[in-house]
Amino acid sequence: MDDGVPGGFWLDESIQVAKWLEAEGSVDALELTAGSSLLNPMYLFRGDAPVREFADTFKQPLKLGIRLVGDKFIREYPYEEAYLLGSARQFRAALDLPLVLLGGVTERATMDRAMAEGFQFVAMGRALLREPDLINRIQADASTTSLCIHCNKCMPTIFSKTHCVLA
Ligand SMILES: Cc1cc2nc3c(=O)[nH]c(=O)nc-3n(C[C@H](O)[C@H](O)[C@H](O)COP(=O)(O)O)c2cc1C
Ligand code: SF4
Repeated sequence: MDDGVPGGFWLDESIQVAKWLEAEGSVDALELTAGSSLLNPMYLFRGDAPVREFADTFKQPLKLGIRLVGDKFIREYPYEEAYLLGSARQFRAALDLPLVLLGGVTERATMDRAMAEGFQFVAMGRALLREPDLINRIQADASTTSLCIHCNKCMPTIFSKTHCVLA
């Protein structure tokens, strides 16, 4: 939806691209994401920036350098449930294509809200990494909440074996 970096795509441009894709008829649905992993990684994830854990994936002297100045480059953004919903609504209003809501979807109430607002699907990342059986537990008890604390320490684990550090 938007890159979160100066000079990157903003919603007006990406909605236009989505309209072209819709008109072309070559996609079944769009999953609405945001940010640039390389240039502004926390823009997609929100929550804590795992600077120390990220630094530890490098050898010295890079490790020390990232530990010292990493927080200057890895900017933090506050986390909230369904944090991309505001932007995603603008795509819902502009398109007929099936849309997938992504970003901080962890609860049944959010899924119901997404369906009520016209999204056909939700996608879940960290909440399922934390608890792979979460969907079954939500199905059994709609008041179930996620144990993911959006610490984002799972992010640097992609360089070894992707896992939740709390699981
Ligand atoms: C450990 C980890 C690895 C990820 N790897 C990828 C990836 O390879 N490609 C991608 O498009 N998104 C990747 N993501 C982003 C997720 O697909 C998702 O967009 C993001 O976690 C936000 O959704 P969530 O709030 O449900 O976690 C990754 C996320 C995590 C936590
Ligand atoms: S390490 Fe675990 S608790 Fe922390 S954000 Fe990742 S999945 Fe959630």
